[in-house]
Amino acid sequence: MSSLHEKDHRYILHPFSPYRHDKHNIALTGGKGTQLYDDQGKSYIDAIGSWWVNLHGHSNPYINKRIAQQMEELEHVIFAGFTHAPAVNLAEKLIEHLGKPYSQIFFSDNGSTAIEVALKMSIQYWSNLGERRTKILAFKNGYHGDTFGAMSVSERDVFTQAFNEHLFYVEYIDLPPETDFYQLRNILESQTVAAFIFEPLVQGAGGMRMYDAAQLDHILSLCQSHGVLTIADEVMTGFYRTGTLFAVHQLIHNPDFIVLSKGLTGGYFPLGVTSYTEKIAAVFRSTLPSHTFYHGHSFTANPLSCTAALASLDLLLMPETKEKIRHIEARHQMFLPRISKHRNVKDARQKGVILAFDVSTPHDGYFYTHPIKDLLYDKMMNQGVLMRPLGNVLYILPPYCITDDELDQVYDAIIHTLDSI
Ligand SMILES: Cc1ncc(COP(=O)(O)O)c(C=O)c1O
Repeated sequence: MSSLHEKDHRYILHPFSPYRHDKHNIALTGGKGTQLYDDQGKSYIDAIGSWWVNLHGHSNPYINKRIAQQMEELEHVIFAGFTHAPAVNLAEKLIEHLGKPYSQIFFSDNGSTAIEVALKMSIQYWSNLGERRTKILAFKNGYHGDTFGAMSVSERDVFTQAFNEHLFYVEYIDLPPETDFYQLRNILESQTVAAFIFEPLVQGAGGMRMYDAAQLDHILSLCQSHGVLTIADEVMTGFYRTGTLFAVHQLIHNPDFIVLSKGLTGGYFPLGVTSYTEKIAAVFRSTLPSHTFYHGHSFTANPLSCTAALASLDLLLMPETKEKIRHIEARHQMFLPRISKHRNVKDARQKGVILAFDVSTPHDGYFYTHPIKDLLYDKMMNQGVLMRPLGNVLYILPPYCITDDELDQVYDAIIHTLDSI
């Protein structure tokens, strides 16, 4: 074991990982494009965009240059009482591309904090109006982050088990097509629901569960007709993951809030955004101190993060990138029939650049901690492909710079893995 591994074991607990001494974390020395390089001379294709954050590959020259320039000008400043061009330009650009009716941006640090902001604003919206609406409605199997509010509205499972008695009450409904509309109407008619939160079109960490835009629209229309605010968690689905720039662009009904993070900075820095409409803003435009939104983080609207986001958007909106995205979607579509036929595959599915399937296995196990998870991970890594299965669900969500050869390598490694179990 190298001294790096030894010290890593001694000092660091990694995310979503138990303490383990039989296995060490791979030490990386660099990354370029979709490739990650380790200290043993091995390389890996990052087929999941490093937890869905990376859009344009690692160490992208254009984003690097923009950040280096910004670093010479202003690295960070308190965002209360001050503003700066990277934040204002990013807000303007996001609002332009989110489209009407979004007109407002609140910056935070990551997906979880941006979700907290949306939840807190929804609850305070009703409080500022003097109405007692405090309940949140959410889909079963959702994942919205690891802070207490975000955990509360997520699926109650092994992630939240130790904290359940500290989490606030949430009404849950099934994802379409299983949604029980009779139950939903009853919940909505209670007039106590402040907001409905959902991952549009694809539930990510809950197992890449894909569902129909029309059915989500029906739920949104019911919520909106009962005055319930709606929060689209686009932390995973944003930035062309599902076929459109934002998944909500496939809907007829506009949610009141859109939450962004992950791909926002192209995978460079943590940054969260909660965007909302004038209807929400109007309720906070008040001189009463109790109507102020008392929320903020030390690194709110960090200029380097905002610059990375602006640079990432420049790249994302280039016609060549869109072509690349369409090409990945088409390649996935061609791979889908091949993988669907495999004896060890159930429910192969695709939305945009996300291709996912369940690995059928004789073992039973709770979904996320399914015993096959580590085996699949190791088999893919041994073939030089980073995929991090969600239990028995394998999925590809690559950076958009992935080449045809690299995609072939990923597909072949998947088939080889499935053949060998
Ligand atoms: C849909 C969704 N919302 C929120 C989050 C939380 O984001 P973060 O990990 O940046 O706190 C995640 C993270 O995976 C996510 O997938």
